[in-house]
Amino acid sequence: MKLAPSIYTADFARLGEQVRAAEEAGADWMHLDVMDGALVPNITFGPAVCEAVRRSTLLPCEAHLMVQAPERFFQDYKAAGMQRITVHVEACPHLYSTIQALRKLDLQVGVALNPLTPLNAVEDALPLVDLVLIMSVEPGFGGQAYIPSATQRLQRMREMLNAVNPNAELEVDGGVNVHTIRDVRDAGASIAVVGSAVYSPNHSVAEGIAALRRALRGEL
Ligand code: DX5
Ligand code: ZN
Repeated sequence: MKLAPSIYTADFARLGEQVRAAEEAGADWMHLDVMDGALVPNITFGPAVCEAVRRSTLLPCEAHLMVQAPERFFQDYKAAGMQRITVHVEACPHLYSTIQALRKLDLQVGVALNPLTPLNAVEDALPLVDLVLIMSVEPGFGGQAYIPSATQRLQRMREMLNAVNPNAELEVDGGVNVHTIRDVRDAGASIAVVGSAVYSPNHSVAEGIAALRRALRGEL
């Protein structure tokens, strides 16, 4: 299972150091939570911070755009060096064009669903995407509790993907920690976004990632 630390709960006063710590600890992707205060009730950062993170690591970076009308910003996040952009289906009434716009920029395409958005909202898009992101918290904040119904949604989405696009990644985001990571892996998630399980005042980044790996091996 790949781990994608979310920098949202990192110490922004030493962001480059925190990103390098995740890379050294064996993370697979960096997950950058862009929030606009409109689609979600919080504001985080934009392309400039994403570009700074990109400069701090050799890991591939994905921008999770929790923003209205995300197509306005695709060029900016491409220029910032993102390899994948994940948009929210709830913010994309013209999803076919949105996907085309990402393809034109040679960006990997992710589509995210909030915890109660019906899975069939993206059913016809599945053959066209590289990744589906199942939110296991309401987007907007780190450190929230995992919503248990996400596990079954992951299972169902994995089955849907296996039928039409078996190589697509299935990512889970929100409340993934040492207690929930085996469930989401067993439900079919191939990438876990991990925020407060990695970036926390209670342990180092290395300890956080090592604990997740131990949990995946059933050693916790
Ligand atoms: C929430 C973000 C998540 C969040 C993850 O809107 O999309 O990536 O930062 O943080 P944890 O892992 O602490 O739930
Ligand atoms: Zn996220």
